[in-house]
Amino acid sequence: MPSEPWVKLLAVRDCRPECPRYLEVDGFELAVIHLMDPDRFFVVKNSCPHAGGNLAAGTVEGGVVTCPWHQWSFNLDSGECTTSASVKLHRYDCRIEDGYLYARLAAPG
Ligand code: FES
Repeated sequence: MPSEPWVKLLAVRDCRPECPRYLEVDGFELAVIHLMDPDRFFVVKNSCPHAGGNLAAGTVEGGVVTCPWHQWSFNLDSGECTTSASVKLHRYDCRIEDGYLYARLAAPG
């Protein structure tokens, strides 16, 4: 089965560390999250899997994003929720090339 194509999202320099950023690309609503120490990026579906909260308006600390609606938290490395084992963050593959962040955008399976 062919993989989704890589989609250019934005310049890495436009992603402030620990400050999620909302993006809408090709109909996908995304939260882009830049972590420091180590320096890395995550692209996740912006809609919180609990009840659709705006994750781009959430807080980020220690590799965890916390939704602003009911404060459920999600580990960015695993996607696991620290509040409920029944939900998981939808993360997209992403990579950096020539100073830009790219992602493979696919509907959650
Ligand atoms: S909608 Fe995100 S914690 Fe409830």
